[in-house]
Amino acid sequence: MTIREHWEKVYKTNLPDKVGWYKPHLETSLKWIKALSLDKDANIIDVGGGTSTLVDDLLADGYRSITVLDLSQTALALTKRRLRERAASVIWLEGDITSVDLPTCHYDLWHDRAVFHFLTDPEQRQRYVENLLKALKPAGHLIIATFSLEAPPKCSGLRVQRYSADKLERILGSEFLLKKKEKELHITPGGVKQMYLYCHFQRTA
Ligand SMILES: C[S@@+](CC[C@H](N)C(=O)[O-])C[C@H]1O[C@@H](n2cnc3c(N)ncnc32)[C@H](O)[C@@H]1O
Repeated sequence: MTIREHWEKVYKTNLPDKVGWYKPHLETSLKWIKALSLDKDANIIDVGGGTSTLVDDLLADGYRSITVLDLSQTALALTKRRLRERAASVIWLEGDITSVDLPTCHYDLWHDRAVFHFLTDPEQRQRYVENLLKALKPAGHLIIATFSLEAPPKCSGLRVQRYSADKLERILGSEFLLKKKEKELHITPGGVKQMYLYCHFQRTA
């Protein structure tokens, strides 16, 4: 099964509020985004947004330029259906973040919750970082949440890479400055404890 087929199957066979990473609202992401005091026209991308309600909450907060990218067409369709007419004001991109062609120097904020940690191969991670460097504006922000070192080794049945902030810093390289980090305990709808690591980086150049 390809990685795309894996995610299609996940979203075709589970209700959005029954998947392991489900949270009614991504409170930490929302709090951190609010703290950035971005212009409401800032270009925001939610990488691997899936069926998360972050886009709903950002629209409700008045953000007008939101892109949701995901590998799964089904996840995007479910999210669009939930948003109804508000979906028309969002840019939807179906693609793999390690290969998709993103606009150059475009985004003010790149948000990723529980996507980067699935890239267990260094080459995939390198392609992700290359896309990030291509698409994020200088001084742009990265809010990234991955499994932390104490989290289980798998998520959605797939092996994950677990991170400390130091390790993320090393992978992202010298163009990113760590501004904030925080652990967040997530309990899946099935009762499994997963410790996430949230980091806010700012691009320096
Ligand atoms: C664990 S879910 C997290 C969803 C959402 N970010 C959240 O916090 O609710 C991972 C998401 O990333 C997507 N995904 C996995 N690998 C991807 C890739 N290489 N490129 C784009 N999306 C990917 C999956 O389809 C899925 O929607």
